[in-house]
Amino acid sequence: MIRLSKSSLNSKEKIAISRVIGNSYLGMGPEVKLFEEEIKDYLNTSKKVIAVSSGTAALHLALQACGVGKGTEVLVPSITYVASFQAISATGAKPVACDIAGDNGFIDLEDAKKRINKKTKVIMPVHYASNAQEMKKVYRFAKKHQLRVVEDAAHSFGSFNGNKRVGQIGDVICFSFDGIKNITSGEGGAILTSDKSLISKLNDIRLLGVRGDSKKRYSKSRSWNFDVQEQGWRYHLSDVLAAIGRTQLKKVESFQEKRKRIVNFYISKLTSMKEIELLKIDFKKNHQHIFPIKVLDNKRDPLKKFLEKKGIQTGIHYQPNHLLSKFRTPYKLTESEKFGQEILSIPLHPDLNNKEIKRVVIEIKNFFS
Ligand SMILES: Cc1ncc(COP(=O)(O)O)c(C=O)c1O
Repeated sequence: MIRLSKSSLNSKEKIAISRVIGNSYLGMGPEVKLFEEEIKDYLNTSKKVIAVSSGTAALHLALQACGVGKGTEVLVPSITYVASFQAISATGAKPVACDIAGDNGFIDLEDAKKRINKKTKVIMPVHYASNAQEMKKVYRFAKKHQLRVVEDAAHSFGSFNGNKRVGQIGDVICFSFDGIKNITSGEGGAILTSDKSLISKLNDIRLLGVRGDSKKRYSKSRSWNFDVQEQGWRYHLSDVLAAIGRTQLKKVESFQEKRKRIVNFYISKLTSMKEIELLKIDFKKNHQHIFPIKVLDNKRDPLKKFLEKKGIQTGIHYQPNHLLSKFRTPYKLTESEKFGQEILSIPLHPDLNNKEIKRVVIEIKNFFS
């Protein structure tokens, strides 16, 4: 079976985990602090990095800290993982599904504009397949309509927004480090922002709202006499997971090279196929963990089945969220619905070898011939 995606791990992660176990301290401690500092160094950002237990937790906390809650609304593209929608609804707010640009999956700002009202507080663009090249337009839009921007950057750790790495500029940026992302900490995520009032809130609400606990935890201590002012959650990262993340961070450049080689191979072999469309994104600025292609003429599902029979896993990123029972809209989102029927992700992870990626291409071609 050629896997769609997979964590790329070796003895280095095992050694890192053993180091933490040897300390007999598994909670949030010095490893988390180091992971946060090392992310900051890698991204060369002046923003504060706050590590949390998942990308979903990062989005939930970021939204809450921005004042999103009951009676407010958040603009979000329909094509995203359901985590984006659940993070919004977890605050009590309403996720307002917006259409996407059919050629790259990015939020369609013309459509988003139609959905703004007095309750709209935040726009949450998703860097679909790590594409963050249109963020300038989002920030212009947000300024005009007085919205905050929470970037769902789950796909784009190490990728570029213009000539800057995602996380160097912007309002609030949320990464995911789940098992198959650009780097993994097992499960995990991070929030980046320069907003001081947000930083202080986020530090507290990742640890049940206990004032000032984050700092104490870094040195394996905790607060005993404390106040709580806000709803908090148990969303901090553990030292075990941070140790895995720190090890993966050392490999990020090599992961990038390996994924790029595969992406370039797919582009060179699939561009000329008339039955398939590649996304229109700047692949040079991308560091992506998925390679979605658009399969035209209602051939997506038959191709998916064919590849499965040949031992090649594929994925659907994503079905439109506005068609799910919980998030169903009374309006249609034409591009998202079409995209949801055409999109198919083919295998991409650092451990794929040449023989495997050649087989993926050959079997796609076999299907159409
Ligand atoms: C677009 C998007 N947003 C949010 C998330 C949530 O991240 P996590 O799985 O770390 O909670 C994911 C993860 O798959 C995602 O793909």
